Amino acid sequence: MSLPSDAFRHLASRPHEPLRTFHPRRAPLSQEREDALRTLWPRYGFSVHDAGSPAPQLPDGALDTVTLFGRSAPVVLEIGSGMGETTAAMAAADPSRDYLAVEAHLPGVANLLVLIDRAGLTNVRIAHGDALDLVRTTLPEQSLDAVHVFFPDPWPKAKHHKRRLVQPAHVGLLLSRLRVGGTLHCATDWVDYADAMLEVLTADPSLENTVDAFVPRPPYRPVTKFERRGLDLGHEVRDLVFRRVR
Ligand SMILES: C[S@@+](CC[C@H](N)C(=O)[O-])C[C@H]1O[C@@H](n2cnc3c(N)ncnc32)[C@H](O)[C@@H]1O
Repeated sequence: MSLPSDAFRHLASRPHEPLRTFHPRRAPLSQEREDALRTLWPRYGFSVHDAGSPAPQLPDGALDTVTLFGRSAPVVLEIGSGMGETTAAMAAADPSRDYLAVEAHLPGVANLLVLIDRAGLTNVRIAHGDALDLVRTTLPEQSLDAVHVFFPDPWPKAKHHKRRLVQPAHVGLLLSRLRVGGTLHCATDWVDYADAMLEVLTADPSLENTVDAFVPRPPYRPVTKFERRGLDLGHEVRDLVFRRVR
């Protein structure tokens, strides 16, 4: 199995690639993270785009989550896990479900590997690459118990809104993979993005809001790294928890 490389960052910034929802960023890897990639990646990671580090697959090409996690349990997908602290904390507090984190930024992938190993977590796996590609190509319909989208890149300029993760086409894709009864939980510290999320999610006939509009941060969601940054800047945080009803 080959180790993940930052080649994906370049791939993501090629003009003929689809519009991505993340910033291709260059960041050096610390020695600890390089070591984590070398030693822990084969156990806990796979690549969305690199055939050298494939995910375990069923004969029909779907992600084989039983082989991936070593058991059959409800799966929570976390899109854009960043440095992974939230994923690791939530998975530790929720051992009966499996957490599949997807992150495009390699240092974040490596950091989550360190956290998984340090806490001895058995219910977390991390995919490197574009979550939307992973969902589109390998996740079967109704295969997810929950989808978490915490502090997605806000793309604040109007001309970049088309890159936002929470928009009708992406939501439709994610919902098709969520089981009926499963939840989609989003959070953001950008008020206009929160309003746009509310509009998009409310307009989807397969979703029902669990409250009137926004929910206070549920106790099971720890304050994330990006959230802390936003709070320090005086931003207001909004959580949205919707349930798929049909
Ligand atoms: C603003 S950060 C938030 C990270 C983390 N959720 C937190 O709250 O600390 C957004 C993250 O989502 C990742 N991301 C955005 N779109 C993605 C996609 N389509 N697939 C995988 N990762 C994505 C970015 O690389 C970035 O690390």
